[in-house]
Amino acid sequence: MTENEVSDAGLSTEALTLAYRDRVVIRDLSLTVPDRRMTSILGPNGCGKSTLLKAMARLIAPAGGHVRLGGEDIGAIDTRALARRLAILPQSPKAPEGITVADLVRRGRTPWRGFLSPWTEQDANVCRQALEAVGLGELADRSIDELSGGQRQRAWIALVLAQDTSTLLLDEPTTWLDLTHQLEVLSLLQSRNRAHGTTVVCVLHDLNLAARYSDHLILLGPSGLVAVGPPGEVVTVENLDAAFGLKALVVPDPVTGCPMVVPH
Ligand SMILES: Nc1ncnc2c1ncn2[C@@H]1O[C@H](COP(=O)(O)OP(=O)(O)OP(=O)(O)O)[C@@H](O)[C@H]1O
Ligand SMILES: [Mg+2]
Repeated sequence: MTENEVSDAGLSTEALTLAYRDRVVIRDLSLTVPDRRMTSILGPNGCGKSTLLKAMARLIAPAGGHVRLGGEDIGAIDTRALARRLAILPQSPKAPEGITVADLVRRGRTPWRGFLSPWTEQDANVCRQALEAVGLGELADRSIDELSGGQRQRAWIALVLAQDTSTLLLDEPTTWLDLTHQLEVLSLLQSRNRAHGTTVVCVLHDLNLAARYSDHLILLGPSGLVAVGPPGEVVTVENLDAAFGLKALVVPDPVTGCPMVVPH
């Protein structure tokens, strides 16, 4: 299947145009997010990465074209059914004041619970595993306001893990994290992907980490899509110049052999 064919499994866009009032941010974009793989969206500030991710989660409606999930127009899927299939962590999520880590993560179970239905052992297990996966088991009773930026970010990631969906969209999940925790979060998402077949789509700024952890990249530039495909095809000198106006060398990462960007 070529990039521009629409998959009937997983997430895809078809002639998608996204705009804020009359200002078009994404124009006529058709692409397929490979099912059960790790995809990263890359590009300069303001090029429309968050806008695209939000449209993929139906948080904004297209000005034209479609987002499809499993072949269905995402706009036609029942809200609760969608929340059981797809979770999104926005770029700057806001927690209610004073909420604890455990309570925040419990919110991830909302789509799975009936109105006033009791909290089940399954709900508790999923939340505990999500907290442990991000290394916050010990801080479950702490207030979110009392956490460091990195701990808070990991609490939000635990929330989307607790939602237990087959597709995870995360907007800059490594912001605020030190390098060790960036690697930990990306490894965690990778192990979710490998163990559960979860389709993961991240917006990332670190090109080298994106190349290392992703099976597939979507590179946007100031005037739209620059390239899509595996890191070896997307992270090239020409594409980096087109997307970022960046003059760089691309060499094999000495640890993984993935493309590594060395700016001039
Ligand atoms: N709610 C909004 N109303 C109007 N314009 C918006 C809105 N949100 C974003 N924009 C504009 O749309 C463009 C794309 O924004 P977007 O947040 O998608 O960029 P981005 O690629 O995620 O950038 P960054 O790397 O800084 O997060 C920007 O020019 C931005 O100013
Ligand atoms: Mg953004």
